[in-house]
Amino acid sequence: MSAVTASLCSTLMFVLFVSADQKNITAESGQDVTLTCRAPNNNIRVVEWSRADLGDKHVLLYRDGHFVPEGQHPSFKNRVDLQDRQMKDGDVSLILKDVTTADNGAYECHVLMGEINLLKLINSTYLHVDPPDHKIIPAESGQKVTLTCRAPNNSKRVKWSRADLRDKYVLLYQDGHLNPDNQHPSFKSRLTLQDRQMKNGDVSLILKDANTADSGTYMCRVFMEETRSWKLLINNYLIVVPPGQKMNIKAESGQNVTLPCQSSNINITGVKWMRSRMEGEYVLSYQNGNFERDNQDRSFKNRVDFLDIQMTDGNMSMIVNDLTPADSGTYMCGVFMEETRSWKYISYVRLSVTDRSGPTGGSVAVIIGVSAVVLVVGFLIYKRKRRSNTHDDPEDEQPLSPQELVGD
Ligand SMILES: *[C@@H]1O[C@H](CO)[C@@H](O)[C@H](O)[C@H]1NC(C)=O
Ligand SMILES: *[C@@H]1O[C@H](CO)[C@@H](O)[C@H](O)[C@H]1NC(C)=O
Ligand SMILES: *[C@@H]1O[C@H](CO)[C@@H](O)[C@H](O)[C@H]1NC(C)=O
Ligand SMILES: *[C@@H]1O[C@H](CO)[C@@H](O)[C@H](O)[C@H]1NC(C)=O
Ligand SMILES: *[C@@H]1O[C@H](CO)[C@@H](O)[C@H](O)[C@H]1NC(C)=O
Ligand SMILES: *[C@@H]1O[C@H](CO)[C@@H](O)[C@H](O)[C@H]1NC(C)=O
Repeated sequence: MSAVTASLCSTLMFVLFVSADQKNITAESGQDVTLTCRAPNNNIRVVEWSRADLGDKHVLLYRDGHFVPEGQHPSFKNRVDLQDRQMKDGDVSLILKDVTTADNGAYECHVLMGEINLLKLINSTYLHVDPPDHKIIPAESGQKVTLTCRAPNNSKRVKWSRADLRDKYVLLYQDGHLNPDNQHPSFKSRLTLQDRQMKNGDVSLILKDANTADSGTYMCRVFMEETRSWKLLINNYLIVVPPGQKMNIKAESGQNVTLPCQSSNINITGVKWMRSRMEGEYVLSYQNGNFERDNQDRSFKNRVDFLDIQMTDGNMSMIVNDLTPADSGTYMCGVFMEETRSWKYISYVRLSVTDRSGPTGGSVAVIIGVSAVVLVVGFLIYKRKRRSNTHDDPEDEQPLSPQELVGD
């Protein structure tokens, strides 16, 4: 077997400069995955794992028996290891822990062997991570919100965390009680379990007095005794809009409307406006200095823009021109967080656009004269609209599909 692998690899050594035929791996969110790679011999001095879309940052660099933290992309910090640090039989496989959809991409394994001072591409693996179940929770500042999660009955350990809080967690439940040691200070005295007994595995949280800094992705995990690992159960996308910001906006067809979005971070590298039920990938998108158009939903082409193209002071409000009733729906504005390579949603707007009805001009006398007719016609239009247009509120509560929600 190893002889076969070795001969296969040495054959590939010559071919791989031209094309690496790619292997695909699919994983669930929260899993630990192993990306296999075997170098043709044991004389390995340097191993580098990289991903094309990360530029010159590496995933893992191992040189002369040490990991090199300089130049590592921050999203991999404390999450990667070699399967075998001894690299027996040329095994330079990578272990990547707690994967998320942000880890999607083509991973390449390069090694430097013996005398040749050249990193050689050995293997390339495409990792695809399935998005987890999710729920979108819009809230106004000051409100009490519930983050839902249902764990298997008798769970002994449950962990709530938020990607951008790093080592600090939101809540940790262990062996019958809450463990306050590493809880992020912003949650102290604001959090309670919905059901202290956690009957039927209900480990939902109630967060008091929500504020915009609470916006983010709350991940609920349970420790699985069988596999001795954490399993991600659900992501709650909490979006707390700033005080005074309207969450419901009403407009008439033909009008222009501004949907508000304000980031406290003014160093913006990516912004996406999304909408529930759309065909394209986004309504409006800006990333790394470019306004993307390629996968924009067609119905918004040439109709949407940032109110302020410079996004001064983190103002990422979007203007939508020439509204139609079909524009009704739920809109979310997200910012890209470089460190975790994930999107954080910070604004949520329910837009409802009604057909312009009623008189468009004329004298008061005429208006009074025809008001009865208008009422009847208006009522008929209203009835027809309710039947034909599907933009009533309940339907717009539908969460975005994971693909729509998690960009990239
Ligand atoms: C691997 O996955 C990528 C992205 O989903 C796809 O484009 C490619 O065709 C797949 N390759 C194989 C060999 O399945
Ligand atoms: C990558 O490694 C796997 C497992 O070691 C092997 O089956 C596959 O052929 C390799 N692919 C390439 C392109 O070297
Ligand atoms: C969980 O345990 C409780 C109490 O033992 C029981 O009443 C309930 O039916 C269980 N639920 C599930 C989903 O197994
Ligand atoms: C909407 O904006 C467009 C482009 O700026 C402008 O030409 C048009 O007059 C505006 N329409 C309304 C109703 O304000
Ligand atoms: C964004 O800027 C515009 C003016 O440029 C202002 O009218 C609007 O209120 C600002 N929006 C937010 C959310 O700050
Ligand atoms: C803003 O982002 C750029 C590019 O990522 C970075 O070089 C710079 O240090 C950041 N500035 C602040 C204030 O975070």
